[in-house]
Amino acid sequence: MTQHFLTLLDIDKPQLHALVQRAIELKAMQVKREPHEFFKNYVMGMIFDKSSTRTRVSFETAMVQFGGHAIFLSPRDTQLGRGEPIEDSARVLSRMADIIMIRTFEHSTVELFAQFSKVPVINALTDMYHPCQLLADIQTYTEHRGDIKGRTVTWIGDGNNMCHSYINAARQFDFKLNIATPKGFEPDEKIMTAAGDRIALTNDPKAAVENADLITTDVWASMGQEEEQTRRRIAFADFQVDETIMKLADKEALFMHCLPAHRGEEVAAEVIDGAQSVVWDEAENRLHSQKALIEYLLKNH
Ligand code: CP
Ligand code: NVA
Repeated sequence: MTQHFLTLLDIDKPQLHALVQRAIELKAMQVKREPHEFFKNYVMGMIFDKSSTRTRVSFETAMVQFGGHAIFLSPRDTQLGRGEPIEDSARVLSRMADIIMIRTFEHSTVELFAQFSKVPVINALTDMYHPCQLLADIQTYTEHRGDIKGRTVTWIGDGNNMCHSYINAARQFDFKLNIATPKGFEPDEKIMTAAGDRIALTNDPKAAVENADLITTDVWASMGQEEEQTRRRIAFADFQVDETIMKLADKEALFMHCLPAHRGEEVAAEVIDGAQSVVWDEAENRLHSQKALIEYLLKNH
């Protein structure tokens, strides 16, 4: 069976831990410019139904550093955008490319694509999950503070794709996750229930942040929710990660954000640009952790 990466639950705990360690190793190799062209002439197909800066550049760079190549495919200029069935696109693309990455709306699209793909498929963000970002976040926490196991993470904001992947990460990396969302913006109940008592849900950001080792947030309106922006700005007004919130957390707490960020909305400029923020390391680690992921998937294929 072809190994895919559609959610963090697709790779077991020991392998995920090994992957984070490997990401740290690959980063050191890249810093030293040690050649690691393990996948010469391998091709990654990259399907983007939504915008991206980090995801696109990190995957393309990863393939180049591995000696391979990446092909950017947008619906605007492929038959995917003209209604060619997902199943047929998966069959065709996976006979040419060695690995495929997809960023799209419905999670069922990546599931369907994976079902018909002969090669590994990576979820590069759906409306439900963003597992690649979590690999980078865990790597970043590990580099700054050591193992995240047993730590307390606080999610403030929307119960969105990033929040769902944090819930899965709490299961896979054994940390406690406090989630604070406005009423009506809670994460998916099934995803939460499956994570059991590692997760605590509240509508009070101040209560959620007590003793936290890591505070993280995301935009109030995700891609595809542009029309809800005004309504959401009102609903989320009390959910900004600002200095008052940061002061309630552990003194050593880190701040992360998957980016892009809106200063003055979900995060105050003083926080994202402040001493506890590790968002630039986090963004860089998309590259290294995805290299570890690509290597794992190609070796297990
Ligand atoms: N964090 C993240 O996935 O960024 P992009 O949307 O720029 O890819
Ligand atoms: N929740 C955001 C994450 C962007 C990387 C979105 O889906 O737009």
